[in-house]
Amino acid sequence: MENNIHPSFDKILKREDKEKLLNQHSMVIWITGLSGSGKTTIARELELELHKRGYLTKLLDGDNVRTGINNNLGFSEADRTENIRRIAEVSKLFMKGGVILINCFISPTEYIRNQAKQIIGDQDYFEIYVNTPLEVCEKRDIKGLYAKARAGLLKNFTGIDSPYEEPLNPDVEIKTVETDIEASVQQILDKLLPRIEYKNV
Ligand code: ADX
Repeated sequence: MENNIHPSFDKILKREDKEKLLNQHSMVIWITGLSGSGKTTIARELELELHKRGYLTKLLDGDNVRTGINNNLGFSEADRTENIRRIAEVSKLFMKGGVILINCFISPTEYIRNQAKQIIGDQDYFEIYVNTPLEVCEKRDIKGLYAKARAGLLKNFTGIDSPYEEPLNPDVEIKTVETDIEASVQQILDKLLPRIEYKNV
């Protein structure tokens, strides 16, 4: 039959081929927590440790993604939902290419995180909750945004006039007030390494 369609799925390299090449099991590490909680700091250290061990990773974070692909989105609930949806879809594409994603986004609600988990797939979604109390984030106020939010100059700021719902069942919870960066990363590696190890099945 002549339909001008020539499927050739047998010639398309699959996720498994990429994983074999890279000798790793790809997945998405999703780091949630308040602004200033330390998500990006932990992610950077984690990325270095994984790199040292020969894993190919890609780090995505809110401040960067929001100046590029998501530069048309703000901080309403709908925009945050769209922000996370796009990031989850992009992550899935990387993941299909065998890469391990390290994503740092406030992702403030259970609904938003569930959306990401559904897009990525339960098996490949590894959630880390960076638990730093609001008072501590606010005291640090590295970007000066909490002061602005308190002064009413920044609306819908997470933790001030926009909600943050604590994750119910994260794979790892880091209490940054009690745990230093090295121990935090070790806590993650202990659980993560068995999950990203390449298994030829
Ligand atoms: S999310 O809620 O949609 O997941 P995302 O992680 O992408 O947020 O972006 C958060 C970053 O944007 C913060 O670290 C902060 O620097 C900046 N930001 C600017 N306005 C806000 C706001 N209203 N609420 C939270 N973060 C904000």
